[in-house]
Formats: sequence, C-alpha cells, structure tokens
Amino acid sequence: MPTQNFVIPRSVIWKEEYISLLNQQKIPQVTEYLELRTVEDVWEAIQSLKVRGAPAIGITAAYGLALAANQELSQTYESFLNNLKKHRDYLASSRPTAVNLFWALDRLMNSIKEVTNIDEAKKTILNEAKAIEAEDEKVCQSIGEHALSVFKDGDRIMTICNAGSIATAKYGTALAPFYLAKEKNINLSVYACETRPVLQGARLTTWELMQAGVDVTLITDNMAAHTIKSKNITAIIVGADRIAANGDTANKIGTFNLALLASAFNIPFYVAAPLSTFDPAITDGNQIPIEERHSEEITHIHGVQVAPEGVKVFNPAFDVTPNKLIAGIITEKGILSGDLKEAISSLFNK
Ligand code: MRU
Repeated sequence: MPTQNFVIPRSVIWKEEYISLLNQQKIPQVTEYLELRTVEDVWEAIQSLKVRGAPAIGITAAYGLALAANQELSQTYESFLNNLKKHRDYLASSRPTAVNLFWALDRLMNSIKEVTNIDEAKKTILNEAKAIEAEDEKVCQSIGEHALSVFKDGDRIMTICNAGSIATAKYGTALAPFYLAKEKNINLSVYACETRPVLQGARLTTWELMQAGVDVTLITDNMAAHTIKSKNITAIIVGADRIAANGDTANKIGTFNLALLASAFNIPFYVAAPLSTFDPAITDGNQIPIEERHSEEITHIHGVQVAPEGVKVFNPAFDVTPNKLIAGIITEKGILSGDLKEAISSLFNK
C-alpha cells in the first residue's frame, strides 16, 4: 500500500505548537487545514464534526491532551495531574459513542502511571499520542489486506458514511481495501450511500475515492434496496464506532438498515474496525450510548429551513446492528466470524 502514486488524504497532523486539522465540514468545496492551539479548539473541532470518524477522533483527542499537558503551568506534579484529569474529562465529553475517544485518552493517562515529574509526563504523553497515530496507520493497512481477501475482481460493494483515510490516521477501515485493490489493479466498484443528515458519504467518501481513482457511485440512502437489486451488489462493508463484547456494532445511522437489506438479499455484511473500537467491558449493543445531535441537522439543509418551524425531530447519529446480521468483523488481527461473542472473547483474552 505505501507505494501507491495516488492521493490518500490525512486529517490530523501534529505540528508541536498546534494540531493541523483538515476541516471535514468544508470538504469537498474547500480543502482547508485549521490550527487547533488549545484544548477548547480540540473539543469544539470534535463536537462540531470538523474531525469525525472513530479513530481520527481518538487521535485528535490524544494530541489535544498532549497540547493541554504542554501548556500546563502547574508548579507541582500533583496539581499537574489534577489539571490533566480535568482536561481528559473535558475532551471525553465532546462525543459519546465512538469508544476510540475514551480508549485514546485513557491510554495516555495510563502511560504516565509510573511517572513522577512534569517534564517526563509531558514527553510520555506526547510520545503515546504519536504511537497511537502511527499504530493506527499500520492497523488500517492490515485491515485493508484482510478485507481485500473477501472481495474479488469485479465486485460491487456498498458502504455508508465515511470510514476512510480522513476518519483514521491513514487508509481508513472500510475504505482501506479499495485503496489496496487500486494498487493491485483489482477492479472494485463502490456504491456510497449519501448518509443523511450530515452527508459523510456524499461529501467525504466520494471525495476520497475519486482522488484515488476508485470507481465510486453516489446514491441517496433510500436508494439502497433498489441499487442492491438492480446493480447486483455483491457485499456491504461499513466501519464502526463501538463494538460490544457480543459483536453488536454501533455505526452511523442507516447502517442497521443496510445490514437488514444484506440479509434480505443474501449478501455478506462486513464491519471493518480496529481492536481500539471494541468495548469488551459492555456485554451487548443496548449499553452503547447513542449520540443525539441538534435538530437543525435535519430541519435545515445548508442553512436553509426545509421542515416546518417547530416540528418535532428525532436525530440519532448512530444505530446498532445486531451481531447475527454481521458476516464478519474485519480487524488488524484477522476476520472474526461465526459466534462473534466467542471470537471476540478469545481475541481479547489471548
Ligand atoms: O458521526 P461520524 O461521522 O463521526 O460517524 C462516523 C462513522 O460512523 C464511521 O463509520 C466510524 O466512525 C468508523 S471511521 C473508520
């Protein structure tokens, strides 16, 4: 994968004094990198979806905590640690569903458990944030390789939301096999659901894949069943925000619909996700907190009101696909299938 000569965009770049962040709200019209200089900038960027996608949220929050640590003026280690915990909790409050956010922040806090002075803690935290980013890039490459093994030349594959390079350190999860296939001259066609209400599919997935020369066709979400039938879709692949111990998977709203369609059309439904997206501490999907976002995401399109003033709105950002609808969870360690609860338990107890 690293030898490809096409563009694979990056969303989070550490610049020592600040985080350079691709503003995903403005893609595809404008490619702009923001300078996040404070922990508040980082919280706002995550909350307002300037950066989104579970692994990218985790990486950005990790660098956010590193920024906060570097800017700490505490005189004693005790007050440094107290303030750091407050910054950790603040960043953790930016979004509730993607477990990578909490996983990354807790990994940073755990990295300084044995540390006893401020300078060493600052260095350790930054190194851990850099390690999270570097590992994620490798993990996504591996996911891409495993995912490619379930596809063959000529396949037509549907996806939703954006689980691509800009949702991770690089390459993506559900989109990684398409970059890899391009490199190997394997022809895969992607059908991208637009992903109402925030349009990650229409704006981001098409933008990424077109730059890499991947054959991608945009459809609206309500065209999925007709498209699966009329275009002979061979598989569906999606990313994940949190996977429970039994394999129930939270991902962008609309994912559950696609899993039901895959079952109705008897085609495989795959989830592609790193181990950092699993939450083995929770037994099933009922325990996954589902973010509900502002009603204006639905009542307005590009700032123009399209629904009656005062209409009641329900705007969950994610849904949970039950394990029984998932043919395989594609991780960096291989593909989990069959009894997902058992497969996850043996993976995490290794
Ligand atoms: O609300 P978003 O855009 O953060 O939702 C993102 C998704 O649902 C992705 O599919 C998921 O985070 C995986 S990204 C590799």
